[in-house]
Amino acid sequence: MSQQADQFKKLVSHCKEYGFIFPSSEIYDGLSAVYDYGPYGAELKNNIKAYWWQSMVQMHENIVGLDSAIFMHPLIWKASGHVDAFNDPLIDNKDSKKRYRADQLIEGYLEKLEEKMAKEVEKARKRFGDSFDEAMFRQTNPRVAEYQQQHDAILDRFTQSMGAGNLADIKALIDELEIADPETGSRNWTEVRQFNLMFSTQYGGSVSDEDSKLYLRPETAQGIFVNFLNVQKTTRQKVPFGIAQIGKAFRNEIVARQFIFRMREFEQMEMQFFVRPGEEMKWYNYWKEARMKWHLALGTPAEKLKFKDHDNLAHYANAAVDIQFDFPFGFKELEGIHSRTDFDLSSHQQLSGRKLQYFDSELNENYVPYVVETSVGCDRMFLALISQALQEESVPDAKGEDATRTVLKLHPALAPVKCAVLPLLKNKEELTGKAREVFNDLKHSFLCQYDEKDAIGRRYRRQDAIGTPFCVTIDFDTLEDNTVTIRERDSMQQERVRIDEVEGIVRKRTEMAGLFR
Ligand code: GAP
Repeated sequence: MSQQADQFKKLVSHCKEYGFIFPSSEIYDGLSAVYDYGPYGAELKNNIKAYWWQSMVQMHENIVGLDSAIFMHPLIWKASGHVDAFNDPLIDNKDSKKRYRADQLIEGYLEKLEEKMAKEVEKARKRFGDSFDEAMFRQTNPRVAEYQQQHDAILDRFTQSMGAGNLADIKALIDELEIADPETGSRNWTEVRQFNLMFSTQYGGSVSDEDSKLYLRPETAQGIFVNFLNVQKTTRQKVPFGIAQIGKAFRNEIVARQFIFRMREFEQMEMQFFVRPGEEMKWYNYWKEARMKWHLALGTPAEKLKFKDHDNLAHYANAAVDIQFDFPFGFKELEGIHSRTDFDLSSHQQLSGRKLQYFDSELNENYVPYVVETSVGCDRMFLALISQALQEESVPDAKGEDATRTVLKLHPALAPVKCAVLPLLKNKEELTGKAREVFNDLKHSFLCQYDEKDAIGRRYRRQDAIGTPFCVTIDFDTLEDNTVTIRERDSMQQERVRIDEVEGIVRKRTEMAGLFR
């Protein structure tokens, strides 16, 4: 097993062992690509959502929130294009009976070519040292140039065929490139077929015709579009303004692997920003930068995040970029920023027969606004944060079992538990009583934990493993002078402070205001 795969496996078992994420319906052998969040997972997820919500709604006078229903009129999905175009091209392997996304097989082939080029570049960089000119090398090295030519030709054909819905050519490309089933090596493929990703259900019990068919929303965005005028009128917002929403979305993903990266039920944090027609690229660039800053504020190293423009634009977009994160299985989409034009509002206007126009008093003009969307998956954000935070490190001056520790270095504002209160000994009434007193006071301000079981070192390790930024220990000196030891998670530094100082210390490091500033 590669080191990366091994680390990923450890991450998944850490999430289960410490109550962050459980497989759904586990006692019935689980339900593929559906997960439940345990006590600490639920806290972390709530904190991620609070950080997103506050940075949108609290920090922008011109962004307001919404909580629309999951069930919506089925025509909404006709107008949005999801009934006709929210498809993935699937292909089955006749020997292994495994199902794949045809586009992902070709993208995987392209990624391998990119890796080959990157390897040649790295070899040359080592050979030439400081004088190495990467751009020149990529142009002049015959092997790299050949890979690049091949890459560009495949990408060009792939983009065209995907855009035109030419599934026969996607199949031809898979055959010509001799792409094999990644698990078995077989090249015995079926034709490529379109597969709609929406789940449907029946509305109203007994009826079962097409009219009573409802879809579980595959994105939260449409709830915002159909409420655009309700929100604008009731809040008296002027363009440009935004509507933010957090909620569940459902997609019948063909290939759902990699833990909570690709789920069938997940949560999105989406904001639609309504702008004047013609100003969408200015706002698209604004939100690209703003969203990158939001990720960086959490302490995510810049080299773990990058922009990737879309090769294939969705049916509603005239520009689109992903913020990719370096997950344990490589750089993949974490967030999408899309310039959606007036596609959605115009389609809803047409199909519903209701005007969805805005009167711009400065221009003295009615128009359908253009929209720039930011859309980040809450679960993917969770995976990005926890995979980067989970670390194993050696503890200076410690021996045996204590020489290493597993620590979750989450940003303190997002940590599930902010402070643990620990009496030095369990069976000393004066210590446990005092510790309870401290805990009962601090719990008004933050989520705290009282823990008296096991030796103090083990209790510190338990808190490290769930990412608690501070541990407060009550000892015999506390009874004399009302001071406690406060230990900081990352540095493991311990400091003696007065009990009445603890709340301020913990608050300063864990409040969200620090992130916004
Ligand atoms: N409204 C636009 C939209 O839905 P998207 O790129 O399809 O765009 C936005 O999805 C974000 O939702 C993605 O960047 C990802 O973080 C998250 N997401 C999409 N599909 C997902 C899935 N199956 N499981 C978990 N997260 C998903």
